[in-house]
Amino acid sequence: MSVGGRRASVVELACGMGEFDAAFLKTCPSVRQYRAFDIAVPAVAKTREKISQVARPELDVDVRVSSVEDLDPEEFRNYDVLVGLGILPYLTDQGFEKLAAIGRAERISTGLSSQGTDHF
Ligand SMILES: C[S@@+](CC[C@H](N)C(=O)[O-])C[C@H]1O[C@@H](n2cnc3c(N)ncnc32)[C@H](O)[C@@H]1O
Repeated sequence: MSVGGRRASVVELACGMGEFDAAFLKTCPSVRQYRAFDIAVPAVAKTREKISQVARPELDVDVRVSSVEDLDPEEFRNYDVLVGLGILPYLTDQGFEKLAAIGRAERISTGLSSQGTDHF
């Protein structure tokens, strides 16, 4: 995946067990930066494990425990793509506001869905 001819940076909210991350990074070798977040500690551990199986030296990855509500939209100002699969039913009003602010901070492409499907 490239954006305007350069390698893309991607933020994923509520990454779950990393199923999407691993498949996505494997099939999109031009992604240069990947940030993933989930509120659940075991989910983040599993995502890190899954991503390590498809890691490449030039790929800058960070997977962190955080709720959407606790994220700082300014952190995502320079990202190209925002992904959030299956997150919508879990968000509080504050989470929806934060999601909108994160989307405004960067967005070129957004993949959000209320179910854990392959929307993108
Ligand atoms: C239905 S799962 C979807 C997981 C993954 N995106 C997928 O499609 O397989 C929902 C995920 O949202 C996470 N989650 C729930 N509320 C959250 C919140 N407020 N902030 C961040 N993650 C949250 C859960 O821990 C869970 O991993």
